[in-house]
Amino acid sequence: MGSISFGGSSAAIGLDIGTDHIRVAQVKPAGAGFELSGYGRVDIPMGAVVEGEIVDVDAVTSAIKELQRRSNVRGKNVAIGVANQKVIVRLIDLPYMERTELEGAIQYQAQDYIPMAVEESILDFQIIGDYMTPSDEHMMEVLLVAAHRDMIGNAVAAVEGAGLKLTQIDVSSFAIVRALMGMGQPVVASADEGAAVGVIHISSGITNITVVERGVPRFNRISSLAGNQFTQAIANVMNLTFDEAEALKLQVGLPDVESGMSDVPEGIDPSLVQPVQESLEREVNKFIAEVRRSLDYYLTQTAQVRTIQRILLTGSGAQLKNLAGYLEKGLQAKVEIGDPLAYVKPVSGSQQAVTSDSYGSVVAIGLAMGGLQS
Ligand SMILES: Nc1ncnc2c1ncn2[C@@H]1O[C@H](COP(=O)(O)OP(=O)(O)OP(=O)(O)O)[C@@H](O)[C@H]1O
Ligand SMILES: [Mg+2]
Repeated sequence: MGSISFGGSSAAIGLDIGTDHIRVAQVKPAGAGFELSGYGRVDIPMGAVVEGEIVDVDAVTSAIKELQRRSNVRGKNVAIGVANQKVIVRLIDLPYMERTELEGAIQYQAQDYIPMAVEESILDFQIIGDYMTPSDEHMMEVLLVAAHRDMIGNAVAAVEGAGLKLTQIDVSSFAIVRALMGMGQPVVASADEGAAVGVIHISSGITNITVVERGVPRFNRISSLAGNQFTQAIANVMNLTFDEAEALKLQVGLPDVESGMSDVPEGIDPSLVQPVQESLEREVNKFIAEVRRSLDYYLTQTAQVRTIQRILLTGSGAQLKNLAGYLEKGLQAKVEIGDPLAYVKPVSGSQQAVTSDSYGSVVAIGLAMGGLQS
């Protein structure tokens, strides 16, 4: 959350606790840039994390301990990310006031904008900028973040149980944007003026949809339409176990969106290809409709931008064969695969681990980058 932080350091660790995996990344300043000095990933038992929320603290703690043994990351202070229905990000307009004044007033201002009780939430904010209205009122734009206390409590318990210290809690979407687009200060005017970029991160339990404009993430929505749901659809339609359906999903994927063609992967019964692809196509069409609703909602809220022409795609679930083509067509936007190593250079001891997890690594890397800032 940018600023719920208790001290930064010269090497920062990001810990990304997901539904299928926990990932850790360590970043250090190096020359004019940054290096990825450590990286690792472990599996986590099914059901321990559900839709971005930790439900089994002990299982998560054991997985973190295993990750400590198996990765080349060393250190105690970690930044974690939160992304679930209990974290709300809103860009709001308020009458101009000084930062210190807003610190006192945010409690009262926030309730109008968040769907949960302020008393049960941890609040944070970032002042994006100020402006004059046509009728000469001095206003400011504030990025408001509210997170439910209970949810934070489980994360703290899981991390501390593994002997680590939670020094920063960030919003996962902010970490994703930082890793892919850099951590420059909000840009007030740039060549990008009037352009907004959509960032879609698909993992297993959740999809994170973010809109970035003038360098600032201005909109964020979490959806449960993600990799697991794609797999479950195949399992339901074809009457298979989740694991059988998962294996088919990974191998078959979607057909080419233009030609409808697909090659039958080796070792796969050709008669299975069509039902797999039909199930996936149905889910992906729902997925596209969901993303479209989010982007349209954003566009109706903002006066300047009319379309979103560029989308950055990441997350392990984004590896679904031919998905990018479906999104390009369905969203009428250019879809690019986001590069988690755009701003960090892996040292040789981290290279192999991170490149084999290139789609999934972006949150942990962005969290670590954020840990350096504070
Ligand atoms: N080649 C592939 N094709 C399609 N899907 C894939 C592929 N490889 C991985 N996935 C999917 O990616 C998902 C796992 O993503 P990831 O490891 O990033 O999730 P997570 O971070 O643990 O979970 P979350 O952040 O949602 O809580 C699974 O649904 C898996 O099926
Ligand atoms: Mg994840």
